[in-house]
Amino acid sequence: MNTYVTGPTIKQLRENRHLTQAELAVRIGVSSKTISKWETGKGLPDISLLQPLAQALGISVIELMNGEQILNKNVSANMLRSKFYICPVCGNTIRALGDAVISCCGITLPPLEAEEADDGHMVTIEDVEDEHFITVHHPMTKQHYISFLVHVTSDRFQMVKLYPEGNAQTRLQLRGMGYLYYCCNRHGLFRIKI
Ligand SMILES: [Fe+2]
Repeated sequence: MNTYVTGPTIKQLRENRHLTQAELAVRIGVSSKTISKWETGKGLPDISLLQPLAQALGISVIELMNGEQILNKNVSANMLRSKFYICPVCGNTIRALGDAVISCCGITLPPLEAEEADDGHMVTIEDVEDEHFITVHHPMTKQHYISFLVHVTSDRFQMVKLYPEGNAQTRLQLRGMGYLYYCCNRHGLFRIKI
């Protein structure tokens, strides 16, 4: 991962868009000599030019700076590959079917990696009629709580928001093989196969 846009990245993206140096230069209001300098590492675009440069190259500023363009193929193929992004500042929770550049509160969020349930985050599942009664054995204080539960199968996604001082319990219709995800505000995302 780069920390600023590089010459090879600009060159590659420009060529992918079938633009000449002169055409790109016109779009962002610089000279073609300037583009040539950037691409050969003899200069860097001013930070105020990153947004217009990204726009001209059809990419987000974050992807431009990382040097990695996100391209998903057939993202809807399987919901079991869902990714979760949680903002550490405001708690915003985002689910994506593929890779994405997700930004919230000025922070670029990485996809969370789910861990296997540990002793402090065990789950029990009881069958009640045609539903399953799910309990996460975990504190629900304002400081330490389970913030949501999600059941995902290949074609279905059910999310239950939980709140501090409530119960870490819910009923879900569980159809087909899938995963139960649940998130602790202190310890992160956990996952069990159902
Ligand atoms: Fe926890």
